[in-house]
Amino acid sequence: MRIGLLKETKVGEHRVAITHTGVAELLRDEHEIFVEKDAGQSVGIKNSDYEDAGAILVSNAEEVFKRSELLIKVKEPSIMECELLREKQTIFCYLHLAAFPEQTKSLCRSKATAIAYETVSVGNELPMLIPMSKIAGRVAMQTATYYLQTPLGGRGILLGGEDGLNQGKVVVIGGGTAGESAAKVALGIGAEVVIFDKSEKRLEELRKIFKGQVSCVLPEEGTFHEEIYDAEVVIGAVLIPGASAPKLINREMLPSMKKRSLLVDIAIDQGGCFETSKPTDHDNPVYVEEEVLHYCVANIPSAVPRTSTRCLELATLPYLKLLARDGAEKIAQSTDHPLHSGINIHQGSITCKPVAEAQNLN
Ligand SMILES: NC(=O)c1ccc[n+]([C@@H]2O[C@H](COP(=O)([O-])OP(=O)(O)OC[C@H]3O[C@@H](n4cnc5c(N)ncnc54)[C@H](O)[C@@H]3O)[C@@H](O)[C@H]2O)c1
Repeated sequence: MRIGLLKETKVGEHRVAITHTGVAELLRDEHEIFVEKDAGQSVGIKNSDYEDAGAILVSNAEEVFKRSELLIKVKEPSIMECELLREKQTIFCYLHLAAFPEQTKSLCRSKATAIAYETVSVGNELPMLIPMSKIAGRVAMQTATYYLQTPLGGRGILLGGEDGLNQGKVVVIGGGTAGESAAKVALGIGAEVVIFDKSEKRLEELRKIFKGQVSCVLPEEGTFHEEIYDAEVVIGAVLIPGASAPKLINREMLPSMKKRSLLVDIAIDQGGCFETSKPTDHDNPVYVEEEVLHYCVANIPSAVPRTSTRCLELATLPYLKLLARDGAEKIAQSTDHPLHSGINIHQGSITCKPVAEAQNLN
């Protein structure tokens, strides 16, 4: 298959979908690989590294689109990129379409097949979301400690307190992969941590993981509002795969929160789980609403692109090899193919139910 690796275009996105090592592995399966110039620049992979691995270097994105059957990248394609896609081509990347109606329409118009990393499910797991969620949770929490500082507009709190006194409180909503990893960092720096999750089974797992050091509770238990109002940091990390995130903190609740506390909406890529969230980027990550700071960066792992690129490739390469071997048509027709659940758009239609529901479409 002719595979094209695109350079990322999203603001502050420094990851690359495949390294030169991954390229070498794909070439062993006798595919042809076109790499957009400077695709790996931000993570220290030179154009010559890709060429030495056997890829063909291409000067711009238009040329990559022209020459490839399968396009790969990290983040969702821009509208311009969607418009370069043609029928019979496939694009493989994070899509998060529930939050991107324009991209959804444009991808449908192209009649190409769009396969999302984040909806490929194996058993109950999302193997291509897990590594980035782990990293996002950790980076979100270390970023939160930074923005709590007064010179940065924050409340002026050291979460760990001093000598066991005056600890700050971190509330995590959604104790899945990202939530667990944020909670681990918060606990490590000495904060008091509360996790809310709607799954009793997941809460039981979390109680075992944290050995009683973290309160793990259902959001319905009445304490939800009290804990939010008592928190220095609230991390939003809920997920209903493919769907828009439910809004769990509304604007009316903000005046009851501590002044200059911080809401971190990790779920912003799925539309965000706080009513007042709007996507930010690494250049301007924080804004204030109702005297509460909001951090809503949709590509948090890109803050550590060298780590993230390696972890992402480890998770995606086996699936990329399957996709390049089998092609989108075969995957669309075989419901038991590991990539079948990843198809969000095919032949002009939305094929992922939660995405269609989020946009009131068929
Ligand atoms: N912003 C970023 O850069 C970035 C990076 C990686 C992941 N993410 C996003 O982070 C979010 C979480 O991802 P994950 O891999 O941890 O998901 P996950 O499936 O592992 O965990 C989600 C958890 O949320 C819980 N949940 C769902 N609805 C809930 C509700 N109403 N109340 C309480 N709990 C609820 C689920 O039970 C589950 O335990 C996703 O939206 C994902 O796309 C964002």
